[in-house]
Amino acid sequence: MQWTMDSWRNFRALQQPQYDNIDELKYAEKKLRLLPPLIFAGEVRNLKDSLKDVNDGNAFLLQGGDCAESFANFSAVNIRDMFKVILQMAIVLTYSGGKPVVKIGRVAGQFAKPRSSDFEEQNGIKLPSYRGDIINGFEFEESSRIANPNRMIDAYNQSAATLNLLRAFSRGGLADLHEIQKWNVGFIAKTDLDKKYHDLCENLSQTLKFMEACGINSKNTQSINETILYTSHEALLLPYEEALTRVDSLTGEIYDCSAHMLWIGERTRGVDDAHVHFLSGVKNPIGVKIGPDGSSDDILKLSDALNPQNEAGKFNVIIRMGADKIKDKLPNIFKNISKEKRNIIFSIDPMHGNTVKTSNNYKTREFDKILSEVKSFFEIAKSEGINPGGIHLEMTGQDVTECTGGAFKLTQDELVNRYETQCDPRLNANQALELAFLIADELKG
Ligand code: PEP
Ligand code: CO
Repeated sequence: MQWTMDSWRNFRALQQPQYDNIDELKYAEKKLRLLPPLIFAGEVRNLKDSLKDVNDGNAFLLQGGDCAESFANFSAVNIRDMFKVILQMAIVLTYSGGKPVVKIGRVAGQFAKPRSSDFEEQNGIKLPSYRGDIINGFEFEESSRIANPNRMIDAYNQSAATLNLLRAFSRGGLADLHEIQKWNVGFIAKTDLDKKYHDLCENLSQTLKFMEACGINSKNTQSINETILYTSHEALLLPYEEALTRVDSLTGEIYDCSAHMLWIGERTRGVDDAHVHFLSGVKNPIGVKIGPDGSSDDILKLSDALNPQNEAGKFNVIIRMGADKIKDKLPNIFKNISKEKRNIIFSIDPMHGNTVKTSNNYKTREFDKILSEVKSFFEIAKSEGINPGGIHLEMTGQDVTECTGGAFKLTQDELVNRYETQCDPRLNANQALELAFLIADELKG
């Protein structure tokens, strides 16, 4: 079928909300279509160029952020701390791991959530599931669980404000490498990690002094005092994505201007379904999550649909099988794919296949399981001749208690202290940084 911005409406679209008031929906979509794009197509082309380096093994992709952004937790401090942790991780990966890092946040649009069930039951009361703040409210109340299209406008506004701050942080001096010591978010003290990080800062500051002596400094060299953090989210809510899709006036090409990169989730990646069809028509780099039931055949069909010209830097497969299943499933997939001459960036999401429920009813993830899946990914990639291109994480800059383990040995009993996510458990700032050091070891290896 001929692709148009709304041709996805002829296909099966999973995980979409039921809006009761269609006029209200049409009005919100119309309003969104008139609002400025959130990103510029030229930025997407720059990202694709950087992702070409990832594709060719000359850079590493770091993608991370909230499971779900929320209206309630929207604050400058949260955005700043997330930005800092991503930058710290990138420094660790670049400096210890020896590869430039392409940084993409799950941010400024990561609002819509796929759910395993349409309904949630509590104490005998059954309500529609929470689907993310862009669709309905988190509170377990009938009125809040009604899908409201005006939330798309609120999500757009929050995304615009978030992007504005991220752009200011990226270019206003906060990202200057000389400031790295100050980026410390304050609570990594008293662990090996703290020492490791400070040693790295010390080495980096020596290097910067040496470069300065050679005449390279933050005044004359942009890459020392500026950075780029690209944005991404799961392109789940198709009316929102359609309304922000635009024709680039410079090239006449079509871009989804809600974020630089979009991905399709494990639950909506059917090759004949609406999400794949919609994203096959835009020029942005596209990711697809592949769980334990995915096959090499699925990946090849998705690559045909989403990257028919086999462009390098266009197509990212995000593996999320779980620490145990990855060992059984991934070797064969990589074996089959490595025979094909496909440009595919493979990255690992060690979060979504490793979620467990504790006896006191918290959804959590064990740090060692996360690490184990990452290690298996690197090992399998190496033995099958595939480039391990990147990592995809749910994490926050805050000191939350949502995932167990790590250097601080967070226990299940401590989850109650600061369990703040509205959806899946995230690595806290320490755990994220610790993971970055461990991944840097893999990159060196
Ligand atoms: C997610 O990334 O938040 C998500 C829902 O992932 P998946 O599609 O892999 O389950
Ligand atoms: Co999640």
